[in-house]
Amino acid sequence: MTLLALDHHLDPGSLAEQMARDVAAGLVWTPRTLPPKYFYDAAGSVLFDQITRVPEYYPTRTEKALLEAHVAEISEISGAVTLMELGSGTSEKTRLLLRTLHDAGTLKRFVPFDVDPAILTEASTAVASEYPGLEVAPVVGDFEKHLMQLPRGERRLLAFLGSTIGNLDPDQRAAFLNGVRGTLEQGDFFLLGTDLVKSPERLVAAYDDAQGVTAAFNKNVLRVLNRDLDADFDVDAFEHVAVWDAENEWIEMRLRSTRAQSVRVGRIGLDVELEQGEEIRTEISSKFRRAAVTQELARAGLEITHWWTDPANDFALSLSRPV
Ligand code: AVJ
Repeated sequence: MTLLALDHHLDPGSLAEQMARDVAAGLVWTPRTLPPKYFYDAAGSVLFDQITRVPEYYPTRTEKALLEAHVAEISEISGAVTLMELGSGTSEKTRLLLRTLHDAGTLKRFVPFDVDPAILTEASTAVASEYPGLEVAPVVGDFEKHLMQLPRGERRLLAFLGSTIGNLDPDQRAAFLNGVRGTLEQGDFFLLGTDLVKSPERLVAAYDDAQGVTAAFNKNVLRVLNRDLDADFDVDAFEHVAVWDAENEWIEMRLRSTRAQSVRVGRIGLDVELEQGEEIRTEISSKFRRAAVTQELARAGLEITHWWTDPANDFALSLSRPV
């Protein structure tokens, strides 16, 4: 098997420093904000995995069904020699793409790209042993910063699934899509998963499930800060909030302090006074419309060639190519 060493663009030191900087800036911002990437420590990744199986959270299973329905077409159109996946995590959704591209006989290389070296090693090892002829070349990086580290080559398919793009605000999204365009060449394709605008009731339910899994996932970010930044958030004195922002068309997750509390973040020497009822924004999850996705991709120099959605129009997969 051909498993290349991790191509590392984030040393552990710089990761910790970046978290310290992000938290120092975010907690004094108005509104107080924490970046969603810090949800995903080991416990957070397990909780996210559980979210994907609660009845209210439709995106994962809808996207999976779309992939199953259209993977043959995606494989045929792209004829991909290299499959690259951003935010690949356990690469579960990619298995389907890998299997189909492999069976079609074109695939030579798989490039999973993630911020988490541990999960990347695990996923790469599994894929490399399942596909002995495949070159697996994992890249550790942040998709907002290190896209140019993706390896060059002919006929590459770059996948960004799960509507993770929804975590970016419009400016960050434009920068990200420009970065994607910058790494792609003629003959390459970009496969993007986007969650679509629907009734606020269903959206809010998807981010505030009855079993409380999303609430636990949201609060877990405070445990991450307590551990990694030597903070002393009283996790039990926060409640989970999910609201639909109709103007921005995004779901906002927040943590609301149920009492006045002062929090010390030891590692950055920061003291934060929270009033009773004060909220910290922990995630935006933007929902999309076809016209806007088309336009945002077009502005970055990407032309949609295919748009696939489920009968209820809940989620979309788009395939685009550089113009
Ligand atoms: C993994 C970012 C796509 O926004 O739906 C799930 C994360 N947050 N429930 C999303 C999440 C709360 C998820 N993404």
